[in-house]
Amino acid sequence: MHFGPRILAATIALALVSTSLVAQTTTAPPATQAEPTRAKHAMVVTIHHDATDAGLEILREGGNAVDAAVAVGFALAVVYPAAGNIGGGGFMLIRPASNKFAHGQPHFLDYREEAPAAASANMYLDANGNLIPKMSITGSHASGVPGTVAGLTYAEQHFGRLTLAKVMAPAIRLAHDGYTLSAEEAAELHSTNLTQFPSSRAVFQRNGNFYQPGDRFKQPELADTLTRIAANPNDFYHGKLAAQIAAFEAANQGLITAQDLAHYQVKERTPLIGHYHGLEVLTSPPPSSGGIALIEILNILSGYNLPKLGSDRSPDQIHIITEAFRRAYMDRGDYLGDPDFNKMPLAQMANPAYAAAWRKTIDPIKPTPSATLVRPAGFMPAASTPLHPHYESNETTHFSIVDADGNAVSSTYTLNFGFGSGVTVAPLGFLLNDEMDDFTSKVGAPNGFGLVQSSANAIAPGKRPLSSMTPTIVSEQPVCSANTKNLSSRPSHNLSSRPESSRSEDTVERPAVPDANATTNCTPGKLRLVLGSPGGSTIMTTVANDLISVIDNHLSIQAAADAPRFHHQYLPDILQFEKAFPLTTVDALKARGYTTRREAEFDEKSAGVWGDSELIEVDPKTGNLLGGHDHRHSFGKAAGY
Ligand code: DON
Repeated sequence: MHFGPRILAATIALALVSTSLVAQTTTAPPATQAEPTRAKHAMVVTIHHDATDAGLEILREGGNAVDAAVAVGFALAVVYPAAGNIGGGGFMLIRPASNKFAHGQPHFLDYREEAPAAASANMYLDANGNLIPKMSITGSHASGVPGTVAGLTYAEQHFGRLTLAKVMAPAIRLAHDGYTLSAEEAAELHSTNLTQFPSSRAVFQRNGNFYQPGDRFKQPELADTLTRIAANPNDFYHGKLAAQIAAFEAANQGLITAQDLAHYQVKERTPLIGHYHGLEVLTSPPPSSGGIALIEILNILSGYNLPKLGSDRSPDQIHIITEAFRRAYMDRGDYLGDPDFNKMPLAQMANPAYAAAWRKTIDPIKPTPSATLVRPAGFMPAASTPLHPHYESNETTHFSIVDADGNAVSSTYTLNFGFGSGVTVAPLGFLLNDEMDDFTSKVGAPNGFGLVQSSANAIAPGKRPLSSMTPTIVSEQPVCSANTKNLSSRPSHNLSSRPESSRSEDTVERPAVPDANATTNCTPGKLRLVLGSPGGSTIMTTVANDLISVIDNHLSIQAAADAPRFHHQYLPDILQFEKAFPLTTVDALKARGYTTRREAEFDEKSAGVWGDSELIEVDPKTGNLLGGHDHRHSFGKAAGY
């Protein structure tokens, strides 16, 4: 296994930090006492109250979950500029409650950014083959072709009930009339990532006359751009807007051309399905790495009775869950990339027999050092150059929506790092992403976050970088009637239950939810959870933790959202904790042999948190909706009716 020099240095530094930690008084986990938000019919949960209100307004006006999601997506582009966007990309998972919506099939919209045609494998290397610091993170060279406008408008056109103009109206209003900045939001706008680019400094920092808490932040240029998109969404990729974006890029050493924009397409991909304790887990396929890793984690954990080991976040539970994380992340690192450029062993990763073999390698007490971890033989193809995941900062955003018919949307989208590349496209008023950093900038060398990646994720024109975003929806199993003669002739849908002999490296399959024309007679199972989070490589461990907290440990959805998180990603071999984790727990894990890191150990003023999960649970007894809004940020909201 190859360790890049920066990974090694970081690992050693973090190990020193951990071992020098002096035991302190135990701190209780935060905010888990908060009650979920309750509603009978519909629910919207987002990181920003104005975006939640936008979604709710659209639901009340007769919109379905997709209408509300599109309204939220555009509203977040206005009120949460650190991550909400029209210059980035993301994923949207749609699950219908019946045949009456979306042809009775779940849909996964991949509107992730794409490498421009001028991008190349070595574009971030100097003449000596060394990485040019920050080039893939900051400034015009860092941006992929944005997919958000295509994704949201595609969703509206194919699955919405209202018009684009209607669902974009709240966002346009918020941009035009402004919204009131809280202290936290005003402080976020001080970002130096914005200061260094004149167009961003002008829009977000009034050229140095910074916005104050309580100020109304108006974005007239963005309002104008959104109005133009609402009138003609094609304009962003094929018209005047495209020409303006391309002209700005050309004038600022950017790579995105009018041809790149014209080439961009939303890709509908087949969602993955796993199973956990009899529930169906509908989740994200590649180019997300999150869904398949989540399925592998849950498959490993299904062999344990977690509550018997201890309570939620007890050292024994953390140990077993961490060992599942470690193993899934090893596979995530070695095999995944853009599915249009790679064949990937997804079915093998989701094989329960493989999970059982992994379980045999887990010591009940002690960690398995990542350096000595050996993959069980006989399941997986030979791995290419290892691809090591990494920890990222906290600037993506997730939202969850259920409408009055029970249709659900789980969507995560991003600019990558906070405020993306830092570059605002003038005079259009929106930030461009720095998603190119999710690619492998140099095989075998760590990127800005310490990630060493393989050629499976190398930069190539038109390619989409590997993502960790993991929008996920959990439900009861579909109920199929006896005359399901066509089931066997349809492709198998359950990645984790196919017979061994039918497994191949081809993994694109239709999930087991009925479509309107199908002769199979299945009723979708009852919706249980809508899940998702930002947080870079911590996303899938957050989603797994949230799911386990509710399903195994019976925490309320609000308690799950607020519970302090732990994370392990195989490399660096460090068990990471959010700052709120009780030190007694951290020390108990350290005593077992883990190298630990508690966020912000030496800066007690730092928030020391990862991404905000924004969650919905359907109460299995009453059918009522329970919203879990993450209190890691102060301005989010769960609301319903
Ligand atoms: O797609 C990804 O995995 C990353 N671009 C997500 C970045 C992220 O979540 C950053 N912070 N929370």
